Amino acid sequence: MFYPEEIVEEVRSRNNIVDVISGYVKMQKRGSNYFGLCPFHNEKSPSFSVSPDKQMYYCFGCGAGGNVITFVMEYENYSFKEALESLADRVGMELPKEEESKEARAHAELRVTLLKINKLAANYFYFQLKQPQGKQGYDYLTGRKLSDETIRRFGLGFANKTSNDLYLYLKSKNYSDQVLAQTGLVTVEERGSHDKFWNRVMFPIMDVNNRVIGFGGRVMGDGTPKYLNSPETRLFDKSRNLYGLNYARTSREKYMLVCEGYMDVIALHQAGFTNAVASLGTAFTSQHGMILKRYTDQVILTYDSDGAGVKAALRAIPILKDVGISCKVLNMKPYKDPDEFIKNLGAEAFRERIEKARNSFLFEIDVLKQEFNFEDPEQKTGFYNRVAEKLLSFSDALERDNYIQAVSKEYLINYQDLKQLVNRLSLRISPVAEAAMERRPETVLREKKKEKEDGVKRSQRLLLTWLIENPLLFDKIEGIITPEDFRDQLYHQVAQMVFDGHKTGDLNPAGILNRFINDEVQYKEVAGLFNASLREELNPEEQRKAFSEIVKKVKKNSLDEASRRAADIGQLQKIIQAQNELKNLNL
Ligand code: GTP
Ligand code: MN
Repeated sequence: MFYPEEIVEEVRSRNNIVDVISGYVKMQKRGSNYFGLCPFHNEKSPSFSVSPDKQMYYCFGCGAGGNVITFVMEYENYSFKEALESLADRVGMELPKEEESKEARAHAELRVTLLKINKLAANYFYFQLKQPQGKQGYDYLTGRKLSDETIRRFGLGFANKTSNDLYLYLKSKNYSDQVLAQTGLVTVEERGSHDKFWNRVMFPIMDVNNRVIGFGGRVMGDGTPKYLNSPETRLFDKSRNLYGLNYARTSREKYMLVCEGYMDVIALHQAGFTNAVASLGTAFTSQHGMILKRYTDQVILTYDSDGAGVKAALRAIPILKDVGISCKVLNMKPYKDPDEFIKNLGAEAFRERIEKARNSFLFEIDVLKQEFNFEDPEQKTGFYNRVAEKLLSFSDALERDNYIQAVSKEYLINYQDLKQLVNRLSLRISPVAEAAMERRPETVLREKKKEKEDGVKRSQRLLLTWLIENPLLFDKIEGIITPEDFRDQLYHQVAQMVFDGHKTGDLNPAGILNRFINDEVQYKEVAGLFNASLREELNPEEQRKAFSEIVKKVKKNSLDEASRRAADIGQLQKIIQAQNELKNLNL
C-alpha cells in the first residue's frame, strides 16, 4: 500500500515527537530541547536530544536522527508502513483502506493464521515440558544448566514421543489440514498425518517482534539429526533471521556476539551476555549482516573453536566488513563453544576473552600462517608474499600502514621490508592500489579535486543548516542566494523546500524530511542537515565572518559553474560582473 504524502504528513504532525519518544526514553527539558540517554547506542551521559520546534530528534553521540516516523521505525525495527500504521493507531486516525487484491488479502490472512498456529504450538510444547510426559526433556535442559527463568524466557518446550499429538491438538482448534500443512509442523498424508517433531526439546524461533516463526528441535542424547529445524515457510526464512535478536536488539552493549548454535545463544544470555545471536543452522549471509548493521557496527564472532568454526568465521568476516561492521574473533580454547566455555570457566572468564578478542584481519593472518612451514625459507617467503597481498586490500593508505605496523610487530617481520614488499606488489597487482600508494602527481591532483568538491559541498550544507537554524539569516542573503545556487542535487531539492517554507512562513523540517524517507542514504543526509546544530563556539563577530565566507563560497561555486555553461557573451559578461561584485560582498 502506498500512502499519499498528505496522509504521511498528517500522521507525522498529529504525533508530537516529544510525547512519542517520552514513551521510550526518559528525558529532561533543557532550554528549548529535551535530553536523554540515546536508545540507539550505549552511553552514560545524555547526548540524545529532541526538539519540539523542529519535531526532530538527534544524537550527538552516534549521529542517529530523524522525525517521529523514523524514530519508531528504528526503535521498533518496523518498516515504514508498520511505523505509519502504529502512529496512526496511536492518535486514533483511520488510514485509507487499501484496495487489496483477493490474493494479497488471502496471503496476509494466511500469515496471521500461521503465526497464531505457531504460537499455539509453542505454548503446547512449553506446557508438555512441565508435564510428567515431558520430564525427560525438562531433565535434559536442566542437566544442561538452564534455569527455569531461562527456559521460560526462551519458551523452550518438549515434543513428546506420540507421533501425532500436536496434530490432534491443532485439529481440535479447528484448523484445516490444508492450512496445517503449511506450518511445517506436521506432515499431512492420506494414510494419517503426523508431527514433524517428536521426542525432541523444542526451541521456538522468534522474529524481532517476538513472534514465533519457526522451531528448532534437538534430540536428547546422540541421535541424528542432532537439530531438526522447521522448513522454510511463508513466515520463516533462515537467511533473514537471527536467533536471539529479539532480545539482543535491546541490549545496550555496543557490539553483538555472533555464535553458532541455539544453546550458545541461550547459555550466553543466561550468563548476562544478552547481546548474543546465532544464524540458524546456515552460514552467515549478507542479509544477516545487513540486519545486524541496523543495531550495531561491531561484532565479536564466537564461533566454535574447531575447523568448521574457523572456516565459518573466515567466511563471515568479509561479509561483515562489506556491510560496514568491524569484527573481532574470540578465542574459546580449550573449549569448543561458548556454552561449554561458560559452563566450565564462568561468565567473568568469558568477559576477559571478549576483551582479548582478536582483530579479524590478524585472525585471518593467524589462520594463513598455519599453512606454511617456517623452517623452510621458501615457504616463509611465500607467507610474507601472501601477507603483503592481503595488506593491499586496505585502500586507505593510513589504515594500511597501521596494519603493516601491527603485522610486522606481531610476526617479527622488519617493518621497512614489509612495507617495501607491499609497495612492490602493488605495482604488479592493482592500478588502483598502486595509485593510492605511490601518490603520483595525477593521484595528488585527483585528491585535490575531490577535496575541493567536498569543501564546496560542505559550505552548501552549512549554509542550509544555518538558514534552518536561524531563519533571520534569510534577510541577509536576499537577492544573493537562491535555491539554484545549491549545485549539489540533493541540497538543491532541500533548499527549494526550505526557501519555499520560509516564504510561506511554514518552515517545517520534519515534514521536509518525510519526502526522503524512502531513500535511506538521502534521508540520513537530510536528517543531518536539520540536526547539525552549530556547535562551534564562535563569538558573534566570528559567526558573521564565517557566514559571510560560506555564502561567498556557495555563490562563487554556483557562478563558476554558470560561467562554464554560459551560452553567449552577454550571459558571460553578467556572470563576470556578478563574480566581481561577490568579491566585495560583506554580509
Ligand atoms: P549442542 O550439542 O546442543 O550444544 O549443540 P551446539 O549448539 O553445540 O551444536 P553444533 O555446534 O553441533 O551446531 C551448531 C548449530 O548448527 C546448531 O545450533 C543448529 O542450529 C545447527 N545444527 C547442528 N546440527 C544440525 C543438524 O543435524 N541439522 C541441522 N539442520 N542443523 C544443525
Ligand atoms: Mn554446544
